[in-house]
Order: sequence, then structure tokens, then C-alpha cells
Amino acid sequence: MPKPKIFVKSFIASTILVFSAAAWSEVARYEEPIRYRRAVMTMVKRHYEQVSAMAKGKIPMNRDELNRHAGYLEMLSRASIDGFVAGSHEGDTKAKPEIWQDWPRFRAQVEKFQADATRLKEVAKTGNPEALKTAVADMTRTCKNCHDDYKQSGLER
Ligand code: HEC
Repeated sequence: MPKPKIFVKSFIASTILVFSAAAWSEVARYEEPIRYRRAVMTMVKRHYEQVSAMAKGKIPMNRDELNRHAGYLEMLSRASIDGFVAGSHEGDTKAKPEIWQDWPRFRAQVEKFQADATRLKEVAKTGNPEALKTAVADMTRTCKNCHDDYKQSGLER
């Protein structure tokens, strides 16, 4: 029989071990959705910046490229929701826990983003510069609103 004191100590130690292993597996379980949404946002940034630069005349307008970027953005706006798995607010993430506390409100912002992206894709097909500027400005506001409410710190990582 182990001495009672040692027994208690090893019991406490193994309990801590079991609990921290459980906590760790919780974190590991959410690594993939976190990586997923961060990857989507990284791609969103790239295609959004290209469209925005063309709209502002910072890079030459190229209709094929514009349509390609707008098409990716629309697809990515639809994929973005998949990374926001419930419980994934801890780990290597800047997503605020309010996302899951205010889920309907958050989802409405995602839907606004999707509607903006659909509109942008339609406008890109016409190539109308004024309509393109407006569509980009609307989307910029949507990025910012969501980041202000649901992301720790602004547009950048
Ligand atoms: C509906 C909410 C929402 C919208 C709309 C949105 N984002 Fe995000 N974005 C987030 C959240 C939340 C994070 C933090 C993700 C994390 O760290 O897990 C994020 C992260 C990012 C990141 C950091 C990626 C990284 O390296 O981790 C960039 C860049 C970004 N967003 C750009 C954009 C741009 C550009 C737009 C608009 C074209 C946009 N986002 C629209 C919610 C949104």
C-alpha cells in the first residue's frame, strides 16, 4: 500500500493530468476550423484587394481578372461561415466569443457579406466603373463592421 500522503499527491497529479489532457484535446479539436477560417480570410483579403485596386485605378483594369477575382470572392464569402464552428473561440484565433453568443446577428453579417459579393460579381460582369466603386465601398464597410464587432483588432492579423 502506498503511504496516504503520497497516494493523495499522485491522485491530485493524475487528476490534473487527465483534466489538462481533456482541455488540450478540446483546443486541438478546434485547430482545423480555426485554420480554415483564417485561410478563407487570407484569400478574401487577396481577391478583395485586387478588385479594390482596379476599382480605384491603382492597377490597370482587366475585365477577365476582375471577373476572376470577383468570382473567387463570391465563393469565399459562402465558404466563410463553415470555419465558425461552435466552441472554436480558443486557440490561435482572434475571433471573439461573442460570435457564438450572438450567432443570429453574426450570421446576418455573413449573409450581408455574401449579398455584397453576389452584387460585386454581377457588377464586375458589366464592368461599370461607378457601380464597381460603390459595390467595393459597400463590401469594405461590411468587412469593417464585422471586424469591429467580432474580431480582436482591425483588418490586419
Ligand atoms: C462576418 C464577419 C466577417 C466579415 C464580413 C469579414 N471578416 Fe475578416 N475576419 C473575421 C473574423 C472573426 C476574423 C478572425 C478569424 C480568426 O482569427 O479565427 C477575421 C480575420 C480576417 C483576417 C486575418 C486572417 C489571418 O491571418 O488570421 C483578414 C486579413 C481578414 N479577416 C480580411 C477580411 C476582409 C478583407 C473582409 C472583407 C472583404 C473580411 N475580412 C470580411 C470576420 C469577418
